[in-house]
Amino acid sequence: MSTRPQLAHLTAALDELRANGTHFKLRILDDQQAPVCHYDGREVINLASNNYLGLANDPRLIEASIEATRKFGVGSGAVRTIAGTMRIHMELEERIARFKNVEACVVFQSGFTANAGTVSSILGKEDFILSDELNHASIIDGARLSRAKIKVFLHKDAAHCEELLKEIENEPGKKLIITDGVFSMDGDIGPVDKLAALAEKYGAIMMVDDAHASGVLGRNGRGSVDHFGMHGKVDVQVGTLSKAIGALGGYVCGSRDLIDYLYHRARPCLF
Ligand SMILES: Cc1ncc(COP(=O)(O)O)c(C=O)c1O
Repeated sequence: MSTRPQLAHLTAALDELRANGTHFKLRILDDQQAPVCHYDGREVINLASNNYLGLANDPRLIEASIEATRKFGVGSGAVRTIAGTMRIHMELEERIARFKNVEACVVFQSGFTANAGTVSSILGKEDFILSDELNHASIIDGARLSRAKIKVFLHKDAAHCEELLKEIENEPGKKLIITDGVFSMDGDIGPVDKLAALAEKYGAIMMVDDAHASGVLGRNGRGSVDHFGMHGKVDVQVGTLSKAIGALGGYVCGSRDLIDYLYHRARPCLF
């Protein structure tokens, strides 16, 4: 079916992208996500992948996923809160929690929904979010959905974050400081130690998105919290299974109450 007049604005927007030179064609991977692989029939050295440890093609993971599929099927058949929580979800959550040295963990469909679902559910419109200007889109979307007031600090600039905290010091709302552990665009490391110290000083909630730090930083890839020795100082740790772990899915780690709350209130988990 061709585009009907009702969607003509989309065609116009695409024409504009073409005119600006920002329209792109998706590159198509012909084989496995490997250091040398084929896109659109051409052999390339792949420097763009997030499969940092090569686990996406690890024979042990492939075997385990086939075995789990045979045993449990290809889908959970329902959302987590109705009938779709399987024994292997709980095992995965326990293992991740142990790995991250926290009380509990909840697994989401993706890192995107983990961030967006968490930020939007733990804050409300009377609260404040202090967010690094290069934080991931899923944090930005979660912040917007929460309806909290968003204050953006300069990239990795803890002093600027403190200035913003001072401005709202006497406001009654809760404050949440968020940074990526490793930033997705440039691969630089967020000042988790400095921001966690600010969170302590100003009574703010501290949250780290470790999508790119997990499997990469810290002891055995435990992430930026471990890298900076900040165990117990970061209230919310988000991670993804789609990068260094080589599969798909996201998770949130923290206290038992945080996780129990997310089971009850995080919309991607509920619906
Ligand atoms: C910093 C960061 N957070 C979260 C995500 C979302 O993770 P997922 O791909 O599992 O949805 C990404 C993915 O690009 C990311 O780069």
